[in-house]
Amino acid sequence: MEKIAFFDTKPYDKVWFDKLNTDFEIKYIESKLTTDTAHAARGCKAVVAFVNDNIGSDVIDVLCEIGVKLIALRCAGYNNVDLKYAKDKINIVRVPVYSPYAIAEHTMALLLGVNRKIPRAFIRTRDFNFSLNGLTGFDLHGKTAGIIGTGQIGRVFIDICRGFGMKIIAYDPCPAEGCDIEYVSLDKLLAESDVISLHCPLTTETRYIINEASIAKMKDGVVILNTSRGQLIDTDALLQALKDKKIRGAGLDVYEEETELFFEDYSSTIIQDDVLSLLVSLPNVIMTSHQAFLTDEALQKIAEVTLFNLKQFFDGEALQNSVVYQK
Ligand code: NAI
Repeated sequence: MEKIAFFDTKPYDKVWFDKLNTDFEIKYIESKLTTDTAHAARGCKAVVAFVNDNIGSDVIDVLCEIGVKLIALRCAGYNNVDLKYAKDKINIVRVPVYSPYAIAEHTMALLLGVNRKIPRAFIRTRDFNFSLNGLTGFDLHGKTAGIIGTGQIGRVFIDICRGFGMKIIAYDPCPAEGCDIEYVSLDKLLAESDVISLHCPLTTETRYIINEASIAKMKDGVVILNTSRGQLIDTDALLQALKDKKIRGAGLDVYEEETELFFEDYSSTIIQDDVLSLLVSLPNVIMTSHQAFLTDEALQKIAEVTLFNLKQFFDGEALQNSVVYQK
């Protein structure tokens, strides 16, 4: 049996891989994939990595040196991989789609949570504080949702918003064909949306797409949702706008400096990231720890497709889900 080194393992990852795997000997490793931990893959031709494994040139060098030929990402995004450097050295595959519903539904959960202040209400009632002061929200019905990125997830989120009676406008340089979506310029979207939700990938063009200048173009009292990638938002600019009450609230599943923090328990330590501490402390911000994907259906699909990707590689077939560097 071919051996696979599986990095950044969490108990919820193992459930479906153990259930579905029949072809490989999987070596589960709790650590993230780094230049130091990469050596644990010695003897394996393939490694499985996740979204916060920082796969730069140094890690790729170590993997190549010990004979690894394939990095199978068990996620859709691949901004954490230096694709240019990987070209012609090592194969990269990913899980392009697993459950757009999981992420879109979590986005709506964040919107409802922020708008109707559910976490605060929950804490109050548990303390037998039945006061409603400060918990006023707004009707979503009739409001405008501005969707940045209308791929798999953005389109499911649009359907969900429509179910709430929201008007939809969208911005995407590659508009989806055959969809009944009103596309507008980014500036118009910023100016007209009551809720702005990010569903585009992290690229050089989209990095800090939400920044001081773009925030200045937004309506007062807008709600920002980000379940895509942390670096789409300049967090300092977001914080300032939240303090200024320009932005009414934010629902964030990702954070630009999440790599060293998310997926781990730091509840007994003092977090050194002051920006994160301040953000989390605000009453109108809900942050989750990159968990939008975390449903049974998504985890099952991630395991199925990753095992399929591995099998294709070891069977010498063309890699259906390969990711290649494009200029
Ligand atoms: P997709 O590839 O189906 O859609 C992305 C869309 O963004 C495409 O329509 C593309 O044309 C558009 N886009 C590209 N550049 C843009 C720009 N400059 N401005 C506006 N739109 C632009 O991707 P999918 O599956 O919908 O995923 C979207 C993002 O969600 C991923 O890139 C990933 O970062 C994030 N994600 C987050 C997860 C989580 O657990 N929080 C899980 C899975 C994905």
